[in-house]
Amino acid sequence: MTLIEKIEQTTSYIQEILREKPKVGLILGSGLGVLADEINSPQIIPYNEIPHFPISTIEGHAGELVCGELKGKQVLAMKGRFHYYEGYSMEEVSFPVRVMKALGINTVIVTNAAGGVNTEFDPGDLMIIEDHINFAFSNPLIGKNYNELGERFTDMSNAYDKGLIRIAEEVAKLIRMKVRKGTYTFFTGPMYETPAEIRLVKFIGGDAVGMSTVPEVMVAVHSGMKVLGISCISNMAAGILNQPLSHDEVIETTQMVKTQFISYIKQILLKI
Ligand code: HPA
Repeated sequence: MTLIEKIEQTTSYIQEILREKPKVGLILGSGLGVLADEINSPQIIPYNEIPHFPISTIEGHAGELVCGELKGKQVLAMKGRFHYYEGYSMEEVSFPVRVMKALGINTVIVTNAAGGVNTEFDPGDLMIIEDHINFAFSNPLIGKNYNELGERFTDMSNAYDKGLIRIAEEVAKLIRMKVRKGTYTFFTGPMYETPAEIRLVKFIGGDAVGMSTVPEVMVAVHSGMKVLGISCISNMAAGILNQPLSHDEVIETTQMVKTQFISYIKQILLKI
């Protein structure tokens, strides 16, 4: 079966269930799925019931689509995402974004937990993603290009929409919330980076590191969607502080900032 056929099947499965057409896609990272609980009159579709959707396996990711109204916008939220380190292909990891586009979504807000490389950052900070570096050296656009999905050669010079970045900055000012801006660097994981890798990232201008987001953003840009990326700095990256890294710390920090994260994204939704 071709990618196009899979997208069509999955899209019609979801369309038959949904009462309303979603306008904004939300991809919720580790510990950030709580935002989906804010959605009004939600329709919930578990990933394991959706044709061609892989099943998310990692702790802190529920694995369901939650669709409904949030701050006056019809949203489709992914509570839990797929990671390359789980063994899925780049195409599988980014497949839900293809489906979002086919459902009529043109704006996607991508969130994640990330390690802070910029030493001015603190755990618990939220960072607007301005740009990214792909340290996985693979991507979901390799292979046959379907012109109906997007162009062969994708311009990544404005991958993170400038207008959405401006709105996100304005909203932060409005609610008197400190927000950071920076470059997200994608490693495949699942191991955390070495201190030497983090020194390299710092040297080349990365501000945060993480194991997600970039494949989804590449597909979103390929399909002509506007992207806003928000990282929750859950820990300082390897070698910065003299302490071990753990997934528990990541979840603990996202728990700590969840109220702030929820109100921030809700305010952004009001303005887009
Ligand atoms: N490195 C990579 N991914 C992460 C980190 C990190 O330090 N923290 C949360 N996700």
